Parts: sequence; structure tokens; C-alpha cells
Amino acid sequence: MSTLKRVYVTRQIPPEGLRILRESGQVQMDLWDSDDVPVPREELLRQVRGVDGLVCVLTEKIDTELLDAAGPNLKVLSTMSVGFDHLSLEELKKRGIRVGYTPDVLTDSVAELTVALLLATSRRLIEATHEAKTGGWGTWRTLWLCGHELANSTVGILGLGRIGVAIAERLAPFKVKKFIYADVAPRPELASVIGAEYVSFDELAERSDFLAICCALTPETKEICNKHLFSKMKNTSIFINTSRGGVVNQEDLYEALATGQIAGAGLDVTVPEPLPTDHPLFTLKNCVILPHIASASHTTRNAMSAMAANNLLQGLRGEPMIKELHP
Ligand code: GLV
Repeated sequence: MSTLKRVYVTRQIPPEGLRILRESGQVQMDLWDSDDVPVPREELLRQVRGVDGLVCVLTEKIDTELLDAAGPNLKVLSTMSVGFDHLSLEELKKRGIRVGYTPDVLTDSVAELTVALLLATSRRLIEATHEAKTGGWGTWRTLWLCGHELANSTVGILGLGRIGVAIAERLAPFKVKKFIYADVAPRPELASVIGAEYVSFDELAERSDFLAICCALTPETKEICNKHLFSKMKNTSIFINTSRGGVVNQEDLYEALATGQIAGAGLDVTVPEPLPTDHPLFTLKNCVILPHIASASHTTRNAMSAMAANNLLQGLRGEPMIKELHP
């Protein structure tokens, strides 16, 4: 009888992870062999039947229906993501299924992209290249395409974790005057790295010239960025979200941007994803929207893939994982 564990991988993940799984001699792997199209739900429900382990990405909902379809053999789930809002953690815990995820290896890449998005939004880069290309570039003008600069600004972070700290470290050389943050509780160790002050949620909104959203999507943070927050922000402030679209009420954000309540928004994440091309947010010049690419560097995606593969193999061997979620 084969001692190989049966594993299903829901995506053609970057090569490093697939190599690790193939060369492990530990698993018999089936794979949804595409990165362009997610595995259809029906196919996924069929493929997971009886598997011991599952590697997924953030487009797959791992819920009761899927876990029922997999059945009692499933012992380890490994997601190639730092976010875990696509997982029913309670259900996984109830069934004793161990869960691996991929924090840390993407921190640099996400922080870098967040800074790029912040600058693109605050200095109106997308509008500017469009104007240059389409004939809007007339004479040099004194106030044309003026934006907001980081020097002497206050940067606010909602949800201070590894990524928030990494963003602040990158922004500090732009001569930011002050970092402030709000969270469910003070995080003195992380805050001391960047000299950030703990403030209330309302104070964060009121004082931030740039507000970076870095919190996980949970029932508590769902649509936490809504008209209440936007109404307290300055009309010169820039809102940046590279966490999850679900933390924002998009109708309220649209209103705040369209009425000039805030100056601009840069979003790497939306609801839904992809955001339909006829979505009102796409009509706004002061809203820069990216297609969820914060961790998308070759190095990082390969590292995430490798970590997801190793987490799975370690979990199947009953060993500690490199990064395990403990719901
Ligand atoms: C990306 O959004 C991730 O959760 O890894």
C-alpha cells in the first residue's frame, strides 16, 4: 500500500513550491494546472474528495461545504497567502485541521508596493501620464497636477503589524514628521521601531495626511473605513488600502472622493475582485486602482509558494510548520 499522502493544489503556483512538493517523495499531487483561471468550484469539490492535504490560494473559499466534500482524511490546509479571510477558521479548528499561511516573506514586497501606490496617488502619476499621452500637456502651469507631499506629513497606520512597520520604515526617509497608529490595543514593541504614537480610531482619521490600511479583514474590521472615518479625514488626505477590500465601504469611499471630502485613494484591493470595469470608482481621477498585486514580485511569490509547500509537508509529517495559524 502506498504511504504517499494525497494532496490537491488549487492553482499552478510558482515553480519553487511545485518543485518542493514533487521532489518530496512524500505526496501524490494533483493540480489545477492553470494560473489564469481559478479552479471552478464544482471541480474543486470533486478534486478534494479524500485528500490528506490541500494547498490553496486566496480565491478559494475554504468553508463547511468544501471541508465536507474533502472528508475526514483532510489534516492539513496550506494557503499561499498572508490573508486568511477566505478560510472558515472556526470550522477548520473544529475538525482539527492544521492551517499554514505565508507571512513575513511578502512583507518587503507589500510595503514597497504600498509606497509606490501612495506616491502614485498623492503625486497623481496616473493622471499625469494620461495627460502627457493624450494632449493635455499644454504650457508649464503653476498649479496643474499639484498633489500632496510626504515631507512634514503625519502618516497614519490602521492595524500595526509587520507590514505597517515596513511601510513606515520606507516612508521615514521622505521626511515624514510623525507616525501614528490605531489598533485594538497598543503594540509598543512594533511602534518603538518607527517611533509611532498610539491614537484612537477617530484621532487617526483626523490627524493623518496619509492613511495606510494594514489591518486584516475580520468581522470586527468589515467596512470599518466608512463615512464615519472619511468624514473625520482632512480634505487634503490620501487613503491607501493594500489589505483587503472588505475593510472599506466602497459607496462611502466613492462619495468621499467624488465630493472632495478626501483628496485621493489608492486601492490594491476591492470588492469584488476583479472590480467590474464599469464600477463608479473607475470614473474618478483621484482614485488609483491596482489589481491586487502588492506581493507580486518574482522573488516573493516564489518564496510564498515554497513556504506554502513546506508548511504542507511539515504539517503532513506532524511537525511544526514554518508558519502556522492557531485559530
Ligand atoms: C495577499 O493578499 C495575501 O494575503 O497574501
